[in-house]
Amino acid sequence: MKAIEVTNLVKKYGKFTAVDNISFSVEKGSICAILGPNGSGKTTTIKSICNLIIPDKGEIKLEGKSNKKSVDKISALFEGTRNLYWRLTPRENLRYFAGIRGLGGKNVEKTIDELLERFSLTDKRDVMVNNLSRGMQQKVAIAMTLICNTDIVLLDEPTLGLDIESFMDIKNLLRNIATDMKKTILLSTHDMNLVQDVCNDVVILNKGKIVAQDTLVNLLEMFRSMTYEFILVKAISKEDKNYLLKLGYSFYFTNDDSILEIDIVNSNKIYNIIDVLKEKQILIKEIKQKEINFERVYLNLISGGKR
Ligand SMILES: Nc1ncnc2c1ncn2[C@@H]1O[C@H](COP(=O)(O)OP(=O)(O)OP(=O)(O)O)[C@@H](O)[C@H]1O
Ligand SMILES: [Mg+2]
Repeated sequence: MKAIEVTNLVKKYGKFTAVDNISFSVEKGSICAILGPNGSGKTTTIKSICNLIIPDKGEIKLEGKSNKKSVDKISALFEGTRNLYWRLTPRENLRYFAGIRGLGGKNVEKTIDELLERFSLTDKRDVMVNNLSRGMQQKVAIAMTLICNTDIVLLDEPTLGLDIESFMDIKNLLRNIATDMKKTILLSTHDMNLVQDVCNDVVILNKGKIVAQDTLVNLLEMFRSMTYEFILVKAISKEDKNYLLKLGYSFYFTNDDSILEIDIVNSNKIYNIIDVLKEKQILIKEIKQKEINFERVYLNLISGGKR
């Protein structure tokens, strides 16, 4: 079952096309990251899903129903913590937002206490939000997206500007929200550690277009199998280096020219490279498939490089 289905979405601002005919879907219960450089259309996409922006073209469905008729399935947090009232306490903020959605009474009070506990905010529940730290404010803002218990949660840059500790807290909370609370999360972020650690699926935008969309595992795998590291017995000479660079392979030299990295599509190419090294009497200490992190995958996809 798809929680979110976006089909042929187009959003223009005047002549400028901010979102250019994109289609993607998010499985129920998964955490999907929407990534891309500044201005690539992430916020515009998220706002369109929430029905805050009327697209020029396209269709958006939430659990099978047009988003025009199912906004009640969604809660959202936008960049910064602007959905908070600074002069209210966390508890009052949560109560207020529950009220807007028509929730009140004893049950809501219980949910509020549970959420504050889950977010380690119980001892701050009666402190004015204005007097909380940035990370705590961010937690209150995320808690607010959960108070109405919607199936789908959209988070636009939930970890922006947080210190390491708050970042780790929020990372764990996000995992927790998806697995224990069984929610679907679509989040935008520039933090590739967050993506690598909590997301199942990834959609990458560049200039309003989708440049990649797949599971995180597949994207990592696709790149991992392509990068090899040849650890040499000693640093390669300048002469040999120039010779290798002229062969037309994409070699990278690291560690003071004692490690040779190469991206290859066909693993048989490895033998060609070994032959070349042998011919030049360049001794190999070790050959490794390089551990690839998601940041490198992302940069490659964005630069339109190897695929
Ligand atoms: N209200 C608006 N009027 C005109 N242009 C806009 C408006 N909102 C966004 N844009 C433009 O649309 C493009 C996409 O903006 P958007 O905010 O969706 O990007 P983003 O991917 O969220 O970027 P960031 O990573 O900086 O948050 C940008 O070029 C932006 O200038
Ligand atoms: Mg944005």
